[in-house]
Amino acid sequence: MTLPTVGIVGAGQLARMMYQAAIPLEIPVRLLAVRDEDGAALIARDVMIGQADSLDDLRAFAATCDIVTFDHELVEPEHLRTLESEGVVLRPGAMTASVVVDKRDQRAAMQRIGAPTPAHREVATTDEIAAFAREHGWPIVLKAARGGYDGRGVWICADVTSAGDVFALMQGRPLLVEAFVRIESEFAVQVARRPAGEMVAYPAVDTVQRDGAFHESIAPSSVPHARAQEAAAIAMRIADAIGCVGMLAVEFFLADGHLLTNELAARPHNSAHYTIEGCVTSQFENHMRAVSDLPLGSTALTAPFVATVNAFGPKDGSDPADTLADALSVEGAHVHLYGKPPRSGRKLGHVTVTGEDRGDVLNRARTAANILMRGQGAT
Ligand SMILES: Nc1ncnc2c1ncn2[C@@H]1O[C@H](COP(=O)(O)OP(=O)(O)OP(=O)(O)O)[C@@H](O)[C@H]1O
Ligand SMILES: [Mg+2]
Repeated sequence: MTLPTVGIVGAGQLARMMYQAAIPLEIPVRLLAVRDEDGAALIARDVMIGQADSLDDLRAFAATCDIVTFDHELVEPEHLRTLESEGVVLRPGAMTASVVVDKRDQRAAMQRIGAPTPAHREVATTDEIAAFAREHGWPIVLKAARGGYDGRGVWICADVTSAGDVFALMQGRPLLVEAFVRIESEFAVQVARRPAGEMVAYPAVDTVQRDGAFHESIAPSSVPHARAQEAAAIAMRIADAIGCVGMLAVEFFLADGHLLTNELAARPHNSAHYTIEGCVTSQFENHMRAVSDLPLGSTALTAPFVATVNAFGPKDGSDPADTLADALSVEGAHVHLYGKPPRSGRKLGHVTVTGEDRGDVLNRARTAANILMRGQGAT
């Protein structure tokens, strides 16, 4: 039996790892790539070149697929609504996409299901920011409602002058102001959900951001068990509320022993790359299963501890692949390279290590990632 063809809009590392997960299940996959050199387009056989923001390209692509899913959020929800009205099966669908694309709608969805969030408000003037700061104190955090990622679109402002600078930079684009949270730790929970609502949740995982971007994770999370349970319940309620099909990642802060819900991504997420080796079923496989409406797999850990560390492009602009052999000599290091052209600071891969000891797995994953990031000149 041939399974329905899954079309993936976008051909970055997430599509590449989804493709990899689809192979043993014989799920036919097509890609909509911007160019032949995109990381996933390099390895896939069935690639259409086109733009994710063009309704015509999306429509032409969807016409050759049974189900359409996504590698990123850079698709107009309005286009998705149009495609759905024309009978295209989108997973996740337009309703989910319209929530996750905008931090205001994400927060509204969290509040609807009673999830605690940092205090926040949409602001249209610097006076409104100052008024918010009078209530909640400085510093405050400003966030672009749309289009931010990896900390781009998040600014911590100590006073009204720096808030004014952000305001000018944003040129009237919608902005959220948020109370600055004294974060004890950050963690995430991901769930996979099928069209009829069947769901599985992954264990809570600790995440570390550097310069606003995801840097490393360690599972299971060290937050108190009750908080991890609470987070899993919230993530599942959000997935239901926004009708998510496929993977949903929910980011949390632990502050003063309490949990705060930060943001959502309705796709496989960097915080769960560890699941490839670290869980019985990876997030990529469960995403492909969920969108194909196949039974979901176990999310149990395969080892007591799993650490994943991102590898960014070396400062000298060289390719992490150049130091691959050394990285692989680190015991138990699973190296994933994304096939992207190297550029200093660009996310080019990650390393995962599983094992018995929390410190040891983190150490080995960091060692291997550092080797990939050291550049050609250094030894
Ligand atoms: N209210 C806050 N108080 C303190 N720190 C915050 C707050 N909001 C965000 N941060 C810090 O900034 C990081 C990035 O924020 P957020 O996750 O909202 O933005 P993003 O750029 O969309 O994220 P991503 O990198 O996941 O795409 C958070 O992981 C956290 O470290
Ligand atoms: Mg985030």
